[in-house]
Amino acid sequence: MAIRHTPPSEPDWQAVRHQVLLDDGLVYLNTGSYGIVARQVFDQVTALRRQMQSNPVDFLWRRGGEMLGRARRCLADLLGCPASQLIFTDNVTTAMNLVAAPLRVKAPGEILLSDHEYPAIRFTWERAAQQQGLRLRYARLPVLPTSPEEIVAAFARELRPVTRILFFSHVLYTTGMVLPARKLCDLARQAGIVSVIDGAHAPGMLNLDLTEIGCDFYGANLHKWLLAPVGAGFLYVRPGMEDRILPLTVSWGWYYDRARAFELNQFGGSPWQRSFEFSGSRDVTPWLVVPDAVDFLRNLGWENIHARQRELATLARSRLDGRQGLKLATPTSPELSRAITAYRLPDTVADPQAVRSALWERYRIEINMIEHQVGPLLRVSTHFYNSEHDLDMLVQAVDAVLS
Ligand SMILES: Cc1ncc(COP(=O)(O)O)c(C=O)c1O
Repeated sequence: MAIRHTPPSEPDWQAVRHQVLLDDGLVYLNTGSYGIVARQVFDQVTALRRQMQSNPVDFLWRRGGEMLGRARRCLADLLGCPASQLIFTDNVTTAMNLVAAPLRVKAPGEILLSDHEYPAIRFTWERAAQQQGLRLRYARLPVLPTSPEEIVAAFARELRPVTRILFFSHVLYTTGMVLPARKLCDLARQAGIVSVIDGAHAPGMLNLDLTEIGCDFYGANLHKWLLAPVGAGFLYVRPGMEDRILPLTVSWGWYYDRARAFELNQFGGSPWQRSFEFSGSRDVTPWLVVPDAVDFLRNLGWENIHARQRELATLARSRLDGRQGLKLATPTSPELSRAITAYRLPDTVADPQAVRSALWERYRIEINMIEHQVGPLLRVSTHFYNSEHDLDMLVQAVDAVLS
């Protein structure tokens, strides 16, 4: 008899809000920077840290491998890729450095990237380009496209015979626009170039299937929308691309039998994976509680979470677009947006960061203000633990600060 899977019914979001470590009296609209960990995940990571610190040798040498293997399998299941291709990292910055620093391509040549990349990651490509005699070329993205094809066309226009690497964010840090990752990777494959994705915001915000996306490398944070503790990120490496990267830190994992590089061992992965993950003594507990973070969200129901994110983003749009001269900078199409909406400040605002400071100091609203060439952007991140009340508070504060 077939087992019927009943999706969880819509949670009482007000009650769920108390299941995460959100401070009372705080309007937290910045999951785009860091997510708020669930109490049960915090308790679990704290319990593991206690175990680790009470006998680190037993924890790290004997018991850690099994837990790490379980965490990796759970993450692979979430991402739609083989566990053998996942390397745990501290964050997406490390993941992107793991690719940009060692990846060798033919010089002279170009790295094509969008004009909305997170500056710290752009710097890693700048360094890689300097070291290898490459140039960066930017695709200028439309701010309010109505179809994914407009985005693909913006990249396609800048492709050259000398383009060696295509790099882009799955969700832009500036406006929250969701890029058509699979279509862009098709473009890269047709051009015979390497594709690298910064998926910092994607896990927990988008349903991911990395195999279907077809990228060569995909790095992301688990501490943002997936609500794992800070210290949890990963790099996915497409089968066949393993030899294109090297560990940034050389440690005990460096020497291994290359003939057995991909065989599972007692450390919760393969020797190849360990060569990246073992970078000296470290706290691995943020990686180990990834299954707890996934369980927490899965029990709320992915569809419920995504519907709630859409509902709040739609509400934010209807309340903020046009208010006090704010102009929506995120596409409205469900294909191109999800849980981040951004608004351009009017030109009359001389000091955007003073607006952010006022929102925090006078109203306890935690929100990001992004400086970008399209103009200063008020970036509103709404996860399921946000409420209509949070948006009311923001609207009132915006009225007071910008009027
Ligand atoms: C698109 C993007 N990439 C990379 C990062 C860097 O994240 P982390 O500092 O956690 O590595 C961020 C952080 O906000 C981001 O938004």
